[in-house]
Formats: sequence, C-alpha cells, structure tokens
Amino acid sequence: MTTGFPLFPPGFTFGAATAGYQIEGAYDEDGRGPSIWDTFSHTPGRTAGGATGDTACDHYHRYPEDVALLRGLGVDSYRFSVAWPRVQPDGRGPVNEKGLDFYDRLVDELLAAGISPAVTLYHWDLPQALEDRGGWRVRETAEFFGAYASLVAERLGDRVGRWMTLNEPYCSAFVGYAEGRHAPGAREGTGALAAAHHLLLAHGHAVRALRAVGAREVGIALNLDRIEAASDSAADLAALRRAETLHNEVWTEPLLAGRYPQDEAATWGELADGSYRRDGDLGIIGASLDFLGINFYRPVTVADTALPIRRSAVDIGVRETDPYGTRHTTMGWPVVPRSFTELLVGLRDRYPGLPPVFITENGSAEADTVEAGTVHDAERVSYLHDHLHALRAAMEAGVDVRGYYVWSLLDNFEWARGYTQRFGIVRVDYGTQQRTPKDSYRWYRDLIASHRSHHARKQDHS
Ligand code: FCB
Repeated sequence: MTTGFPLFPPGFTFGAATAGYQIEGAYDEDGRGPSIWDTFSHTPGRTAGGATGDTACDHYHRYPEDVALLRGLGVDSYRFSVAWPRVQPDGRGPVNEKGLDFYDRLVDELLAAGISPAVTLYHWDLPQALEDRGGWRVRETAEFFGAYASLVAERLGDRVGRWMTLNEPYCSAFVGYAEGRHAPGAREGTGALAAAHHLLLAHGHAVRALRAVGAREVGIALNLDRIEAASDSAADLAALRRAETLHNEVWTEPLLAGRYPQDEAATWGELADGSYRRDGDLGIIGASLDFLGINFYRPVTVADTALPIRRSAVDIGVRETDPYGTRHTTMGWPVVPRSFTELLVGLRDRYPGLPPVFITENGSAEADTVEAGTVHDAERVSYLHDHLHALRAAMEAGVDVRGYYVWSLLDNFEWARGYTQRFGIVRVDYGTQQRTPKDSYRWYRDLIASHRSHHARKQDHS
C-alpha cells in the first residue's frame, strides 16, 4: 500500500455527493408529487425492513447544517440531485415554485459557503404520473425530461456551472425494468431495452435544453464497470463481450462513438426488436459532452452460463463469479483499487476522444460503530486512500481526470437496501437526525487541506 496523500494537480476538484430521494425526506411537502421510489418503497417487501425515503436524513429541512458540514470539509464542489416530482409533481406541465425554491435556497447556501453546486437532474425518482403513462418504456418521457431540464436550468443556471443529466441510467433501465430490484420493480425484456434507449434520448434532449440556457459544463454520470472474464475460454470471453455490451457499451457507444453497440444482436437476440429507435436519435444522443462522470465502486468478473442466475428479464447468459481474495464491504463488494485504474485507462484507450472525466461517486459501505461519540472507520479511510491512489495512477497514465466526489457526505437511504448500508463520511442517527463526522471525514478534510497548501506553497516559490 502506498502511504500518504496522493498528489493531484492544481485546480483538481474535490467534492462530495448525495442524491435527492436518499437524503431529502419531506416526501409530501410543499407540493411534491409522488415518485416511483415512493410507490416502490411503500409497497411491502420491496425494501429492506420496509424502509422508505419519507424522512431519510431530513435534509429538506436541515440543509443549512449539511452545507456547514461541507464547508468544514473544505470541498470545492457538492453534487446533489434535483427531484423531478418536486419541480413538476406530474412530470409535465406547470412548475411547482415551492419545489424549485428549495433548490434555489440550497444553491445560495452553497455559494455563500464557497462551494460550487454540481446538479444531477435525474437520480432515479421518476414522477409516478409519468410511470403511469409508460415511464421510461415510452418516448414521450424523454421529451418531458427535456422540458423539465429547461425549467430547472432557467431557474438555477445563473449560479450552477456543472450539470449531469442522468445518474447511472444502467440502474434505471435494467435494475428498474428488467431485474425489478429497483423502482418501478418491472421484469420486462423489451421494456427494459426501450427504457435504456429513451433514457439516452432524454439525456440528449436535456443536453440541448441546458446548452440553450447557456450551461457551461454538461455531462452524465455512468456506472461503468471494469469487467473481467472468469477464464480465457472462448465461452467466457464471449460472456465478457455480452456483459460489456449490457453494462457499458449500451451507453458509451451512442454517447461517445455515435453508434449502437456492435455486439447487441449476440447479446439480446430477439428482445432487441428496435421498435423504439428512430432515425435521427443517434444525433440527439451523441451531442458532445463537456465531461463524463464515472461512478466506480468495484470490479465484476463474469462467466458463461446457461442458467438464469440473476433472474433478470434481460438474461444474457452470464453469471458473476468472485475470484477476488480481498476484503469485501458490507454491500458484499470486493475492494480492488487496481481495477479503478484499469477501467479508466481501458476507457481512454477505447475512446481516444474521451472528454475530461469527473469521478462523480466512489466510496464504501462499512459496519460503522459509534465509540465515545465518534466513528473510527479505518476501512473506509483505507478504501478512499487506495482508490485515490489508483485514480492518480490512471492520471499518470494520461487519463484526463478533473475531479473526484466521494459517495457520500451522509449515511442515507441505500435504495432497496434501505438504511442497512452506511456510505457516509458523516454518520446519521436516524432516530435523532444527529450528524457525527467520522474519521473518514477528517481524513478527507486533511487531504483537501494538504492539497491546497502544497499548491499554495509551490505558487509562492515560483
Ligand atoms: C450508486 C448510486 C448511488 C448510491 C451508490 C452506493 O449506484 O448512484 O445513489 O446508491 O451506488
């Protein structure tokens, strides 16, 4: 293990990330409409312990305290998401001013603390009214998303520089519509593929809408996977190609290369009837990006299988194996920092015109315990330390990375896992809503401070 803080270039952005439904609470206040996550979490059996985001971290009311925590951390930027159903309770039509007012206050609070806001327009909380009309299976949702993007950008665009259209559309399309582990909990093959296409189209419409109001930096946050084959048998290598198609190339090929993935016929066979595609779509989807956001947690190894292991309606004949003889986080994810470097270098090699990269999420869920009023989360510190060194290695290999956002500022509602997984560098006691910075918060704060003083000293000497 390399010790000490990795050294990043001057101007490198350090940030922290959250998402609306995971922290805000206030699910029925000030005119917010229901989202698919309200419906899903209120359905018995869908989330661990029946957890919902009704209250979550109560960030809607406690945002000044949370911004003060960000200020204490010294981050340059804060990534949060706007909840579509707060802004448009039905997903279309008139704006709910009170909903937009909340984000207006949050942005002002951040700026007053010297922190740049980085806004995600969609972090999985589709207005339920749109799901009732077909959700991401239907094309009109992509058009409504473009209109919503305009509303938000018109209101916040004078103060927000960095925008992400979608967060992890892979999860929206395939975990939401094919596996059913996430809202809306569907199990559909063609429906999920149509959802993937319409999410891409929604992204394209939003890019146009953002640019039309003068947005400076527009990107998308993808959870690209570093995928390895379990062996070099022909069958496992073919499984690797299919997994690359499903996890990565569905997004990267249209976004970065202006084409649909090469191996899609071999990957989904009859499911891909293409009925949802129209001429001209690739042009809308492939609008140039100012940056690519990447969320990274762990590598995946795949093997060929005939068994429907993941019980997904998009069954590509692949099962995951776990050859990593390393520590696993409480999510069950192996900790393999080198795979972070490999993902980034591999991506740059495949797409030489890759736009600048921001790491928009990275972090670990650990079994934290409170001791004498604090949390000594040595595993999380070591995860962050090792992944930041791995990131630095990718940059040394020539990948243009401009910033890093830790996931997450706060412990929060971890989707289907409810409150069982703690990703925060600040602990949240859900009974009292008390926030307690962990050792990882102090470690990250010190890293940022040492980065700043190093570069300030260098400037003094030049
Ligand atoms: C990502 C999500 C984020 C969080 C982390 C752990 O897939 O974007 O909201 O749940 O995983």
